[in-house]
Amino acid sequence: MNLTQDELKRIAAYKAVEFVQSGMVLGLGTGSTAKHAVDRIGELLRQGKLENIIGIPTSKKTQEQALSLGIPLSDLDSHPVIDLSIDGADEVDPDLNLVKGRGGSLLREKMIEGASKKFVVIVDESKMVKHIGGSKLALPVEIVPFCWRFTAEKLRSLLEGYGCEANLRLGEKGKPFVTDNGNYIVDLNVENDMGDLGLVSDAILRLAGVVEHGMFLDMASTVIIAGDFGVNIKTK
Ligand code: A5P
Repeated sequence: MNLTQDELKRIAAYKAVEFVQSGMVLGLGTGSTAKHAVDRIGELLRQGKLENIIGIPTSKKTQEQALSLGIPLSDLDSHPVIDLSIDGADEVDPDLNLVKGRGGSLLREKMIEGASKKFVVIVDESKMVKHIGGSKLALPVEIVPFCWRFTAEKLRSLLEGYGCEANLRLGEKGKPFVTDNGNYIVDLNVENDMGDLGLVSDAILRLAGVVEHGMFLDMASTVIIAGDFGVNIKTK
């Protein structure tokens, strides 16, 4: 059929929105795939096919999009338990572990999606990998700006054995990219399979200066994959 990547993202997103019911508190993801889901929720609200939805946005960008669509919004302080979150991912492994955060919103995503009874991940088939983080693509880590070189070097040397480079993410005009929380991101390019991801996760989080990383282990309840083959739904 040869659909474009964006069409596949939209197909996965629309499928996920079929899980949404009136009255739900929803985590609203960030990125080009999640954007389609937020658009669709806005459309269904406008058509009266959904009612009494409360959205909890995972970034300032999604907040703006949701507000422009008239989706009522709140936050985790007021709604600490979320019925369902829908979001994209950068990598998904066969156990439904994820890498997220190449859009820079990993901290709010992890807080909100971690507080969700159900977390539905939407991807096109290009996101499926054998091992997360071991594919030379970046594993993002959010760090405090204070002495960022020190923290970046600690990260690099922690994962040196797996062939790791640590690069500060740059934004406009070559300045450091700043997250919605005022932090920086270091992208770890890890060449080899990191083995026990739980151990790696704990070791990264123990480093002073690290706020959060983009490995979402054992968090997704369902992954919806769209490809030329159609739609495949994997559930834990
Ligand atoms: C945002 O920080 C990310 O976690 C995104 O959800 C992830 O990068 C997927 O983005 P796309 O849907 O744009 O590929």
